[in-house]
Amino acid sequence: MIFKARFAGKVMVVTGAAQGIGAGVATRAAAEGASVVLVDRAEFVTEVEQVIVAAGGTAVSVCCDLETYEGAAMAMAKAVEAFGRIDILINNVGGAIRMRPFAEFEPAQIDAEIRRSLMPTLYCCHAVLPTMLGQGAGTIVNLSSNATRGIRRVPYSAAKGGINGLTQSLAMEYAEAGIRVVATAPGGTSAPPRRVARNAEGDNVQEQAWMAEAVEQVTDSAFLKRYGTLEEQIAPILFLASDEASYVTGTVLPVAGGDLG
Ligand SMILES: NC(=O)c1ccc[n+]([C@@H]2O[C@H](COP(=O)([O-])OP(=O)(O)OC[C@H]3O[C@@H](n4cnc5c(N)ncnc54)[C@H](O)[C@@H]3O)[C@@H](O)[C@H]2O)c1
Repeated sequence: MIFKARFAGKVMVVTGAAQGIGAGVATRAAAEGASVVLVDRAEFVTEVEQVIVAAGGTAVSVCCDLETYEGAAMAMAKAVEAFGRIDILINNVGGAIRMRPFAEFEPAQIDAEIRRSLMPTLYCCHAVLPTMLGQGAGTIVNLSSNATRGIRRVPYSAAKGGINGLTQSLAMEYAEAGIRVVATAPGGTSAPPRRVARNAEGDNVQEQAWMAEAVEQVTDSAFLKRYGTLEEQIAPILFLASDEASYVTGTVLPVAGGDLG
């Protein structure tokens, strides 16, 4: 469902916008009137921009690596350059790279999960603050996960626990400045095959078996006993991003079929 003009006049930055949940959030927000800034390190993010513009929407894309502070700062600067302000930031970059028992993680692999699923959000929240403080208003929606209580991806779970902590503390610290900070915690979500894999090295047979164990646990933990759809993740993200959620801040909303994470 499209709420026409829900985001009319709003500038929304969406990170990880080349595919999956991020592409869906950006496309629907643009259809609802937002000027969107699509940030991704995958160059084909420009294809999402083209689809939005062809449908009559307003979008620009920025290609950068949000695992670096420079990338986050550049993304926010390009957004302000293009549209003069940032009303809404959706911190969507993240995702478990590897599924395996914690004892099987190598130290460098632990670091990689934190770099992927915590640092881009932490950096982008910091980099957007001067703009939102200058406006005296802003909304940040972070992407957490039900993996905060889940098996086979402990470093990712820790990163997403960090997302929950920063969401609450940032909301508390900047409420008086007019900035709302919220998050959703998605559960397992069905989506078309990823153009950019989470793990560039691919998964071997053992890793696929560990992944299957995680999928079984996630499905079993959901009251609804199924994965969600992309649309079922996009809708609550955009509700929280909208002015309809103006009295909601510091909250992490589980969107996982009853699994609270
Ligand atoms: N899909 C699920 O089942 C699920 C479940 C729980 C939580 N989540 C969370 O939802 C969010 C989106 O998940 P998804 O499955 O749609 O993601 P995805 O893996 O399909 O896409 C992630 C996007 O982020 C981009 N990206 C990755 N690292 C980047 C970086 N350093 N700089 C810039 N761009 C980068 C990728 O190129 C890609 O376009 C993630 O935070 C994930 O942890 C997803």
